[in-house]
Amino acid sequence: MINETLAALVAKAAEGRSRAYIPYSHYAVGAALLDEDGTIYTGCNVENASYGGTICAERTALVKAVSEGARRFTTICVMTENGGSPCGICRQVLYEFNPDMSVILASPSGAIVKIYTLRDLLPDGFGAEKLP
Ligand code: THU
Repeated sequence: MINETLAALVAKAAEGRSRAYIPYSHYAVGAALLDEDGTIYTGCNVENASYGGTICAERTALVKAVSEGARRFTTICVMTENGGSPCGICRQVLYEFNPDMSVILASPSGAIVKIYTLRDLLPDGFGAEKLP
């Protein structure tokens, strides 16, 4: 990935994170999901007084993107204050669209904390090929 795209992803993840709705955990997460056509979809966590209704930043970005017609994702950048990585549910939901996408963890300073592939984070994940 070229540096310019990486910088744009980190900036968009910060923008998403700034919109986190987090009255309960106070833990802000931002996500920026890159489609192969270059479009970046942002997301933030959106909490709920019924805690199970909370939606993570990664899934917010994904659902926004798919609902706009995008499906071919190459990279997601996730920004937290302490290097938090996508939860198990988000790993599975992202895996549906591209198990080989890159997962970049960034800090609010803009530093890159870690880079994985989704397969690293969800080995032997469950996919459509398992279904009859
Ligand atoms: N959270 C995310 O947005 N993404 C993750 O992958 C991990 C957790 C959010 C959910 C909740 O609003 C807060 O972080 C604490 O769990």
